[in-house]
Amino acid sequence: MNYGFIRNTILREGKPSSLKIEALPYAAKDLAPAISRDTIDYHYEELAKTYAKRYNAGEGDPEFNEAGVFLHNTLFQQYQKPSDNNTPTGKILELIEKHYTSFVDFKEAFLKEAMSIQGSGWVYLARDGKIKTIVNHEIKKDIIVLVDWWEHAWALDYQADKKSYLKNQWTIMNWEHINGLF
Ligand SMILES: [Fe+2]
Repeated sequence: MNYGFIRNTILREGKPSSLKIEALPYAAKDLAPAISRDTIDYHYEELAKTYAKRYNAGEGDPEFNEAGVFLHNTLFQQYQKPSDNNTPTGKILELIEKHYTSFVDFKEAFLKEAMSIQGSGWVYLARDGKIKTIVNHEIKKDIIVLVDWWEHAWALDYQADKKSYLKNQWTIMNWEHINGLF
């Protein structure tokens, strides 16, 4: 009798039997200079895929690993090649202007919320227009715009300069993809 299998099956009752990190809709080098190829190689290829591998192997906390897969899939699918004048349009612009008046004011509010995070976490714009944070990993179904605030997301490229990391995140958001989430 394979008791490990039974234990994992019980733990995952109502949960998917296997998970996968989705393929990137761009090349690993394409997000530079906002995110370097080295960071993608580490963050996407190693860290994100490890959450799926560990979940599928029944290793570690399945809730934590499932949330890690969910959040990284959300994160990496929302990016595109950087451009200087990358501003939101359509529904996402409407949501931002309704709650924050302008994109500039929204970015300031987002930075303030992000800088309030102690330790590892995430910051996101929710469907209801609020800017929310996540401690460690957690599945949230109301994510519209997501930024990874774990050290592995910014330290290699920005050392301690998290403000520049966030500023450059706005150059790679694929607003068209984000508008598809409404
Ligand atoms: Fe991450």
